[in-house]
Amino acid sequence: MARTALVTGGSRGIGEAISKALKGAGYDVAATYAGNDEKAAAFTEATGIKTYKWNVGDYEDSKAGIEQVEADLGPIDVVVANAGITRDAPFHKMTPDQWQEVIDTNLTGVFNTVHPLWPGMRDRGFGRVIVISSINGQKGQFGQVNYAATKAGDLGIIKSLAQEGAKKGITANAICPGYIATEMVMAVPEKVRESIISQIPVGRLGEPDEIARCVVFLASDDAGFINGSTITANGGQFFV
Ligand SMILES: NC(=O)c1ccc[n+]([C@@H]2O[C@H](COP(=O)([O-])OP(=O)(O)OC[C@H]3O[C@@H](n4cnc5c(N)ncnc54)[C@H](OP(=O)(O)O)[C@@H]3O)[C@@H](O)[C@H]2O)c1
Repeated sequence: MARTALVTGGSRGIGEAISKALKGAGYDVAATYAGNDEKAAAFTEATGIKTYKWNVGDYEDSKAGIEQVEADLGPIDVVVANAGITRDAPFHKMTPDQWQEVIDTNLTGVFNTVHPLWPGMRDRGFGRVIVISSINGQKGQFGQVNYAATKAGDLGIIKSLAQEGAKKGITANAICPGYIATEMVMAVPEKVRESIISQIPVGRLGEPDEIARCVVFLASDDAGFINGSTITANGGQFFV
């Protein structure tokens, strides 16, 4: 029987590539999104992958949404906590709202996504938890105190889950993408983008598929001995 996978923020950007790649690898996939109904509908039409709308920052919404996905698809074996946002500002201008929104989505959102699934994964003796962190959680970034804090926090989450889940057949790993050509990055001014590319030794932005292929590997049985790790996929921009 096919394994099932849940991808938060799976309707566009890196998440869209992850959803498609997992489907291509034989998984039954559910993708979530926050509010862009039009994009989600187009995604479902193009891929046949069902989408579900909830705010990952809300625990009760996440729990109810996950229950619905499991009612539709069966127990979830693989969860990819990918949904994320930026609300950039230099620290002296960052508002408490900008701080909180990013914490709620990128950090608490990972808790809210994985926590409702954890007991089932433990009971069934199998699970794959994959969190999409960021290069900026590893190195920090001007204007991203909030974002970098959440992405570094995501690494703490997977290292702890890796220890708690190991005896129950659950692995937890993270991927730290560098700069990937999605709307999030294409939205920055061209001059800034050019300056970013000049810092990437391979001389280009990454492609969403390059992250998706890492996810497919981490989700597979072949990756069973990889637990608590971070795959850094950034074109050589930063070495940990
Ligand atoms: N792009 C990069 O260069 C880069 C680099 C390093 C790490 N990352 C990380 O990779 C992940 C994906 O980034 P991306 O560039 O693909 O982003 P994106 O194109 O902006 O897509 C974000 C996805 O997350 C969903 N989402 C946002 N807030 C949500 C919420 N509160 N609840 C549920 N879903 C929510 C969005 O739903 P809607 O469509 O409804 O808005 C969308 O599906 C993020 O965690 C990001 O931090 C990206």
